[in-house]
Amino acid sequence: MPEGRPIQITDLLRWKKEGRAFAMLTAYDFTTAALLDKAGIPVLLVGDSLGGTMLGHQLRDGGPDTLPVTLDDMLSHASSVARGSRNALLVGDLPFLTYHVGLDAAAMAAGRLLKEGGMQAVKLEGGGAMVEVVRHLTERSIPVMGHLGLTPQSVHAMGGLRVQGREPEVADRLRRDIRALEEAGAFSVVLEGIPSALAQELTGSVEIPTVGIGAGPGCDGQVLVVHDMLGLTVGPVPKFVRQFAHLGEDMVAAALSFKGAVEQGLYPDTEHSYG
Ligand code: KIV
Repeated sequence: MPEGRPIQITDLLRWKKEGRAFAMLTAYDFTTAALLDKAGIPVLLVGDSLGGTMLGHQLRDGGPDTLPVTLDDMLSHASSVARGSRNALLVGDLPFLTYHVGLDAAAMAAGRLLKEGGMQAVKLEGGGAMVEVVRHLTERSIPVMGHLGLTPQSVHAMGGLRVQGREPEVADRLRRDIRALEEAGAFSVVLEGIPSALAQELTGSVEIPTVGIGAGPGCDGQVLVVHDMLGLTVGPVPKFVRQFAHLGEDMVAAALSFKGAVEQGLYPDTEHSYG
């Protein structure tokens, strides 16, 4: 672990000042959290991407769908991750509709992610009207990571999961939103699906660290969905993903090998049996 102790939100702010890039990965379960912690990944996100990776929710065009994810889903996966991780900073996504219908409801949902889910911070999507929510939570000592650009909970409003910020008016809105989120107290902002040059400009316009996904190399940190990073993706792999392993192929090969050994009576053998 980079600091030899549990990571705090203040470490991320310092790393930005020092120009130290950092990695963040999603995690949804105890085992993955323990292994990623062992690898020294400093920030783990219990993302609502679990709607696709863990629960199999899909949009009509086949892409992953985060809208059906509930707070109970998040609490179950978050607490599992919290039991597996010792040192990473743990961030949990607020699911759709838990922070859109009133500030008290948002504080209750976010508070539950900390209190019952074992998270140290929450993430929520959007600028504009969501800035008030960020302020409400941070004023109540709930650290918030923002999320701008391609925000999957707005898939229907965006007309699909599309890169954001190519049009000047959208780019200008992103410029305003990131400054508003910083001013409202967000400690970091995810920039997703944004042209590299704009993401780099947004990163330079604030003192809080940005974490990019499909936003080029100019962000302070980088995040990937762990299934994509490990080569476990079911369905199309997004353009921005580099697969650092091919565990999906390994899993199929291992399952075939197990099946063959069982069918041929080669497993279990004496070595793997009790006398
Ligand atoms: O839910 C998620 O996994 C995310 C990341 C893609 C940033 O929001």
